[in-house]
Amino acid sequence: MKICVIGTGYVGLVGAAIFSDWGNTIVGVDIDSEKIERIKKGEMPIYEPGLSEIVLKNISEGRLSFTTSLSEGMRDAEIVFVCVGTPQSETGDADLTAVWKVAEEIGRNLETYKVIVLKSTVPVGTNEKVKKLIKDNLRFNTEFDVVSNPEFLREGYSVEDMKNPDRTVIGSDSPKALSIMKSLYAHLGKPIVEADFKSAEMIKYASNAFLASKISFINEMAQICERSGADVSVVAKGMGLDSRVGPKFLNAGIGYGGSCFPKDVAALYKTSTDQAYDFKLLRGVMEVNELQKNYFVSKIVRYFGGNLSGKTFGVLGLAFKENTDDIRESVAIEVVRILRGLGAYLKVFDPQAMYNSKKVLGEVDIKYCLDKYEAIEDTDALIILTEWKEFGTIDLERVKNSLKSHVIFDGRNILDRKKVEEARFTYFAIGKRTNGTELLSKRPTGTPGVILKNGD
Ligand SMILES: NC(=O)c1ccc[n+]([C@@H]2O[C@H](COP(=O)([O-])OP(=O)(O)OC[C@H]3O[C@@H](n4cnc5c(N)ncnc54)[C@H](O)[C@@H]3O)[C@@H](O)[C@H]2O)c1
Repeated sequence: MKICVIGTGYVGLVGAAIFSDWGNTIVGVDIDSEKIERIKKGEMPIYEPGLSEIVLKNISEGRLSFTTSLSEGMRDAEIVFVCVGTPQSETGDADLTAVWKVAEEIGRNLETYKVIVLKSTVPVGTNEKVKKLIKDNLRFNTEFDVVSNPEFLREGYSVEDMKNPDRTVIGSDSPKALSIMKSLYAHLGKPIVEADFKSAEMIKYASNAFLASKISFINEMAQICERSGADVSVVAKGMGLDSRVGPKFLNAGIGYGGSCFPKDVAALYKTSTDQAYDFKLLRGVMEVNELQKNYFVSKIVRYFGGNLSGKTFGVLGLAFKENTDDIRESVAIEVVRILRGLGAYLKVFDPQAMYNSKKVLGEVDIKYCLDKYEAIEDTDALIILTEWKEFGTIDLERVKNSLKSHVIFDGRNILDRKKVEEARFTYFAIGKRTNGTELLSKRPTGTPGVILKNGD
C-alpha cells in the first residue's frame, strides 16, 4: 500500500517506520525542515529503542522517504495518516490548530480517492469537523473518506507496541474505508474494534483517563499505606495479580506526566463540562496528581529543616518516564524547578533527556553531569525522579562515599528498601514506612498528629 504520514514525531515517525517494515511504501511529511533533514541523514530526532534500525533499513530498501511538502507526500498515497500534535490549550481542551491546518491542505491537494486517517488524539466530534473542512477546501470533486484510528503506543516501547497492539480501533462511516484500513492491520491478528467516529474518539480519551486514574488511585493508596504502616508496593503487587485489576499503572510515585496523560485527562474533563456534566472522578485524578509532587518535595524540605538554600542535590532522572528523551510535562522537570526555586543547587543526570532538559531548564543553579555517579558526588542527598532501570541498580557503597549526608529520596520506589536501609541510609520512598518517614514523624511539625500531609 502507498501511505503518507503527516507529522513525524513520536507517533508519526514510529508509524511510518513500522508501516514501511510491513512492506508498504511510505512518505513521511513534516513542516519542521530541520527534523526532515536529520531523518534523511539517518539521524533520529527522538530517542526510541529500536527505531533507528527500522528507519535506516527501510530508507535503504526504498520503502521509506521523507519530505516537507504535503502535496508531494500525499500525491500517490491511498491512505493519509494525520499524526500532528494536539497539545493542551490555555482553556484545558485540545489545541487543534495543526489538525485544522493539515485538513485544509489535504482538501486543497486531493486529486484522487484517499482514506484520511486521524491518528492524533482528538476530542469527540473532531473527525466530523475534519471531514467537513476537507470537503470545503476541495478544488476538484474528489471522493474521500475520513477514519478515526487513535494510537495507544507507549513512548519508550512504541516500536514494540505498534508491531503488537492489544487492539486496533477504527472509527468509520464508510464500508470502503473500513475495508482498506482492515487490510492494513489484518495481518497482526489482533482484535479490531469497529466504531462510529465519536465512540472511536472517546475510546482513546477513556483509556488514557482510566490509566491516569489508576496512577492517582495508587498514589492515594500510598498516602494511607504510609500513615498506617502498609507497603504500597506489596499492596499493588497483591492487587495487580488479580486479573480484573492488572499490574500495570499501579506504581506509586511523584505523579503522572508526559505529553499525553495530563492533556488528555484535562481535555476529557473539558469535554464533560462542555456537555454540562461535571466528571467528579477526573477532577480528583487531576488534583491528586498535582499534590503528589508537592508531597514529595515537602519531605525533602522538612528533612532539611525547612531551608534548602546552600544545599546541593544529586538528581537522577529528568524524562517523564524511563526509556525516552521526552520531557514534555515531566514531573521530574517540575520537581527540579521547585527545588531550584527553594534555593537548592542541582547536579542532574538522565540517560537520554539531558539535551531536551537543558533547553527548558537552562544552566542557572544546575550542573548537567555525564553519569549518575558524577551527579551525586559531594551532594547533600540523592533524589530519584525517573524510573530508569539503571538507577535501580546504583552501587550503594559508591553512593555512600559520594553523599555528604546519607539520605535518599526515591520518588519512583525504584530502590530495594531493605538493601538501602541495611546500607544505613536514611530512606524516603512513596507509600511505605521507611526509616526516613519515621524520622520525620518524630520531628515537631507544628500540627500534632498530622504526619506528612499531602501537599504539606
Ligand atoms: N507521544 C505519545 O506517546 C502518543 C501516544 C498516543 C497518541 N499520541 C497522540 O499523537 C499525536 C502526535 O503526538 P506526538 O507525541 O507524536 O507529537 P510530536 O509533537 O512528537 O509530533 C508532531 C509532529 O507534527 C509536526 N507537525 C505539526 N504541524 C504540522 C503540519 N501542519 N504539517 C506537517 N507536520 C506538522 C510537528 O513538526 C511534529 O514533528 C498527538 O495527538 C498525541 O496526543 C501521542
